Amino acid sequence: EKGNYRHFMQKEIFEQPTVVAQTLASYIHRADNAVALPQVDFDLSTVKRITIVACGTSYYAGMVAKYWFETFARVPVDIDVASEFRYREPVLEEGGLALFISQSGETADTLAALRHCKEEGQTIGVVVNVPTSSMAREADLLLPTHAGPEIGVASTKAFTCQLAVLAALAAHLAVRKGRMDRAEEQEVVRHLLEAPAALNAALDFDDDIASMAHLIAPARDVLYLGRGPDYPLALEGALKLKEISYIHAEGYASGEMKHGPIALIDESVPVIVLAPSGPLFEKTVSNMQEVRARGGKIVLISDEEGLADAGEGCLATIAMPKVHPLIAPLVYAVPVQLLAYHVACAKGTDVDQPRNLAKSVTVE
Ligand code: M6R
Repeated sequence: EKGNYRHFMQKEIFEQPTVVAQTLASYIHRADNAVALPQVDFDLSTVKRITIVACGTSYYAGMVAKYWFETFARVPVDIDVASEFRYREPVLEEGGLALFISQSGETADTLAALRHCKEEGQTIGVVVNVPTSSMAREADLLLPTHAGPEIGVASTKAFTCQLAVLAALAAHLAVRKGRMDRAEEQEVVRHLLEAPAALNAALDFDDDIASMAHLIAPARDVLYLGRGPDYPLALEGALKLKEISYIHAEGYASGEMKHGPIALIDESVPVIVLAPSGPLFEKTVSNMQEVRARGGKIVLISDEEGLADAGEGCLATIAMPKVHPLIAPLVYAVPVQLLAYHVACAKGTDVDQPRNLAKSVTVE
């Protein structure tokens, strides 16, 4: 049921504060602000390498998680889209955790990759939204997201819930590996618990984003730029826009612009820049200035501090709450989802059932 919403996608975007809170509640022990994972019969502290495999939006959640696993737990991470992973003869070392991320738990390429890793003796971790799915049944470590049924073909709430689970897992692994002490774990948990309120604050900018949709709707091409954990968010923003508005969009690591894509820039190409204030901000902004110097029209998504610093001269700006870097990828998912949604509405495309796409891709 859509309730008061025009589309399932819109409803699912607005459910995020609630479902992220629900998901976190099942991974966090409130009495002592510790991460609690389901009981498993293997020792996570022995994990030497993580191999992440997924498709589409779930793959982008995995890209964000790679930063967390490597930063917090210092465990090396390989990541690949499932359709490539299976055909490149991956080297899977003993003692590895293979982690599969999927909303449906039925994506054929991801499932085939899972079975391959199982045969190779990897421990199988699964982050999945459908607890009765094939992937859930085949997991050694089952980490459900509690997003509830996702109907819109464009994935939204499943993504932010995946990020919540993956952040909790990264912190837990770091503790088990002796890389994080109790106080640090509690601090990570505290920041994670701030996510639902921050998502709500991000949703408050819905009207502002709706009112700028007409700036993007006429474009033929749109670029998204981000750095660090915001690079996967740029890829996710571009995917959302392509899927539901049929505008050609690409995400780039902002530092890569000068290695080619900047040749595309002229005043007809809007460039969406994701840049929360923080250690990576100045670098991203300098890449943004290079784009602007070539006539590029910038939409800057940042917090008040970032917008005060670099917002001048932009085509438009989108203000986000100032949040801890850990939860920024969850919070910055909201404006890219809303932007794609409102642009699609402005173009009159079928938001929930975009052409040529299925909710669950069960063919390889
Ligand atoms: O069910 P899964 O998470 O395995 O699906 C993976 C992709 O097919 C999915 O994320 C797809 O890219 C979405 N339509 C993105 O919005």
